[in-house]
Amino acid sequence: MIEKHLLFVCLGNICRSPGAEAVMNGKLRGVGLERNVICDSAGIIGFHSGEQADVRMRKHALRRGYVLTGLSRKIKPDSDFDRFDMIIGMDDQNIRDLNVLARSADDRKKIFRMTDFCTQKIYDHVPDPYYTGTEGFEVVLDLLEDACSGLITYLNRT
Ligand code: 4NP
Repeated sequence: MIEKHLLFVCLGNICRSPGAEAVMNGKLRGVGLERNVICDSAGIIGFHSGEQADVRMRKHALRRGYVLTGLSRKIKPDSDFDRFDMIIGMDDQNIRDLNVLARSADDRKKIFRMTDFCTQKIYDHVPDPYYTGTEGFEVVLDLLEDACSGLITYLNRT
């Protein structure tokens, strides 16, 4: 596989997209592809820029063996659409926002929806867990694990 660069995007870049980045990195290591696929994450808004991921997200992810290390940042359309091959949003509002930020039809072709890679779960978005309890974070992680497995299958085919 030629090297691929993936950017996971959610609203705040403190819950879902840093979780996606960590789950994907964990799964890539599991199949020996961590050098082939480079992952990052960003938010549509910069409200939490510079902050660590939400403590609840980090705790729930760690229980499954995923370590979230990055700091929140806002998406930079002028460089991110050039640097990344796939820009993967967590819900339809993320997708709409990404389509507004895209500079060209070629940029828009890089936008994907995370749940479209799920093969086990029937969800059309990764629900925002920010205002939910424990269960919301577990649902997010279940969906991310399913989608990341599907994403690896997709990357192996392309
Ligand atoms: P995320 O969750 O998009 O999964 O990181 C959110 C975190 C913060 C906010 C919204 C969603 N917020 O509005 O501050």
